[in-house]
Amino acid sequence: MRSVITRARSAVGLVRFAALNIGRVARTPRAFAFLRYTWVVRDPDLTSDLQRAVLWTLACEPSVSGCIVELGAWIGGTTVCLAAASRLAKAGPVYAVDTFAGADPDCQARIGHYGGSTRDLFQRNLQRAGVTASVHVLGTTTVEAARTWSTQAQSPIRLLFIDADHRYARVREDFETWIPHVAHGGVVAWHDYDDAHAGVVQAVDEAVATGVVVNPETVPGLLWAYKR
Ligand SMILES: C[S@@+](CC[C@H](N)C(=O)[O-])C[C@H]1O[C@@H](n2cnc3c(N)ncnc32)[C@H](O)[C@@H]1O
Repeated sequence: MRSVITRARSAVGLVRFAALNIGRVARTPRAFAFLRYTWVVRDPDLTSDLQRAVLWTLACEPSVSGCIVELGAWIGGTTVCLAAASRLAKAGPVYAVDTFAGADPDCQARIGHYGGSTRDLFQRNLQRAGVTASVHVLGTTTVEAARTWSTQAQSPIRLLFIDADHRYARVREDFETWIPHVAHGGVVAWHDYDDAHAGVVQAVDEAVATGVVVNPETVPGLLWAYKR
């Protein structure tokens, strides 16, 4: 019953987003192809169809050129959407950063179901979606990956999706360590910007208040803004 209500809410949100962003959706190549990819990995407790649709449009909207970086990939639900959208838009690859070991309380409670690591299932889901070749996996902590990221070797980031450790200090650290690698005009999106994740809200509000990212937009549970 709960999942029917969740799906119904998500569908209503999806239609509302499409109606309010009709110009953006019209510019998105094969906008509704995302339905095929969003259904490869069902995990409505993590990301709603609406949130995935927004990520899809952002990934298809290369206002600046460069790659996509996802911090926190879990079993690949959002990775598949980002990679498929970027490939359809003929834009750059996706770098998925994850230890595949859970870490924050939400994921830690579920990691046992996956034998302590989500990496095998993540790879299988990418394969099922046919996007393996579009995704580079960095199986390390987000901070370590930022430290070794080289803007010389890898293109600037046009979309940074932050969805790893949801504790305040970690969300803040992810923003501070990765934002220098994001291209001007590129997008930073944070998942779980909602009442259930006070640490995320505080870190995101502070990031926006710095003025380094501007013009924030939201749908329930997701906020994105543009690097100045
Ligand atoms: C909420 S899940 C990501 C969900 C995914 N973006 C989606 O919507 O399908 C969070 C992920 O972040 C990873 N994670 C947490 N802290 C991390 C860290 N410090 N470095 C790398 N990965 C981390 C966990 O292993 C987990 O897979």
